Amino acid sequence: MYQDRILRRELIDKIVTADQAAALIKDQMVVGSSGFTKAGDSKAVLPALASRAQAEPLHITLLTGASLGHNTDAALTTSHVLSRRMPFQVDPVLRKSINAGEVMFIDHHLYETVEQLQNKHLPPVDIAVIEVTKIEEDGSLVPTTSVGNSAHFAALAQQVIVEVNLSMPLGLSGLHDIFLTGGYPERSIIPITSPSSRIGRTSIPVDPEKIVAIVITNIPDSPATVVPPDVKTTAIAEYLLDFFKNEVKQGRLKKSLLPLQAGIGKVANAVMSGFLKSDYENLTMYSEVLQDSTFELIDAGKMTYASASSITVSEEWYHRIMNNLNLYRDKVVLRPQNISNAPEVIRRMGVIGINTAIEFDIYGNVNSTHLSGTHMMNGIGGSGDFARNAFLSIFVTQAASKENAISHVVPMASHVDHTEHDVDILVTDQGLADLRGLAPRERAKVIIANCVHPDYRDELQSYYERACQRGGHTPHVLEEAFSWHSRLAATGSMKKSVTEWSY
Ligand code: COA
Repeated sequence: MYQDRILRRELIDKIVTADQAAALIKDQMVVGSSGFTKAGDSKAVLPALASRAQAEPLHITLLTGASLGHNTDAALTTSHVLSRRMPFQVDPVLRKSINAGEVMFIDHHLYETVEQLQNKHLPPVDIAVIEVTKIEEDGSLVPTTSVGNSAHFAALAQQVIVEVNLSMPLGLSGLHDIFLTGGYPERSIIPITSPSSRIGRTSIPVDPEKIVAIVITNIPDSPATVVPPDVKTTAIAEYLLDFFKNEVKQGRLKKSLLPLQAGIGKVANAVMSGFLKSDYENLTMYSEVLQDSTFELIDAGKMTYASASSITVSEEWYHRIMNNLNLYRDKVVLRPQNISNAPEVIRRMGVIGINTAIEFDIYGNVNSTHLSGTHMMNGIGGSGDFARNAFLSIFVTQAASKENAISHVVPMASHVDHTEHDVDILVTDQGLADLRGLAPRERAKVIIANCVHPDYRDELQSYYERACQRGGHTPHVLEEAFSWHSRLAATGSMKKSVTEWSY
């Protein structure tokens, strides 16, 4: 039944098959699609485009909110549709193509993509593909489980293809808060003062004349894989909870803390789950993704309000939320990602940003994106939007992994996404380093003493001492700075063999 979802009646004539809609996408087009961390993505048109390209080669630039579900990025990669892709991905097949130099991946701060589109730093969007719950009488679009960049894609694209997803409950209406930022130099403030502020409308305005095709689907989002907390992630969560406890004791934070942001990854999710057993109350969230832990905290009465750009949860939680939207209606809001990640708002509200690092170095520079400095993992996502502007910028990671063959604390980060200037607190399963107010030499001592796995502590200490002998504000032994990464590439482990221990 799509009649109760297309309230602007003349648009019913635009219903076509996914193949017919995909045929509107031409070679070399710039396509802006809905989809943010697997939620609210195109489930019919982009997959149909991938199938079509197997017989009829074509290349597009694909912009989304963030990652897509249903292996759509893999299908598009395999059929060689993607010449350029931005701003984020998590797909192993696409990752391989990016690292082979076949797909040009533009790793953007998630806040920035539509800012650059609006200001014409990027080529214009030819066609938008937007998944919706329904189309209102005025032609405006009610998104599904994410907003991402959809509002600006719809505004900026010349043509819009709409996917009406019958599997999305009509009760999603009202969950979104759509606010479009204006251009420069007249841009005004984003008047959000708390996670629960509502400043916009509940649907995406679009000129109905631009809607060129409507495709009916009935496919739920792909579920998130939620890795349960383990010994290491639990230890990290405990160090962090102790830290917050002390901040409250010192009077720097109240028991409700400040709005929390939690990044993707198993560690961030474990940290959020750790709040369940704590005595914090009236917690709020101003983040980009709402994960299982958010809803667990709301159900437990620990969290009063959560704002983000998408709901990305496990299968179990997906059904629970979709079938009980009334429980969450006054506790959750979904916003465009240039609002959920707006530096202005993050700083105004004093958001506490908790993100995961691939590695960090002895001075606190953080690598979130590149394995051993060269190979893209996922992308910077929103970590930079939050880290740079947060009240407290926290990064977490395991001290070592792969049977301790990899140390996540290294002499020099092999790629830097977040500089030492943007990082306040580092936590591993070994301990927590509070870097506030410390100079580089002091930071190194605290990081080595608290965060490093015992297998690597002596070598890192030795590196630091030899670096100090050479002097400098931020001492390094440059010819040795990446030796751990070189060793990993050569031997499969960052550890020195016994014969290499000459000092
Ligand atoms: N060298 C080589 N491989 C490394 C490595 C290193 N220094 N560090 C991590 N890896 C590997 C891991 O071994 C793992 O490989 P596997 O899948 O084969 O086991 C993989 O990289 C991912 O590591 P893992 O610890 O499982 O990652 P995670 O799920 O905790 O995610 C990030 C960590 C950093 C990849 C993830 O948080 C991310 O993409 N962050 C950037 C985006 C972001 O922060 N967004 C925040 C706002 S939502």
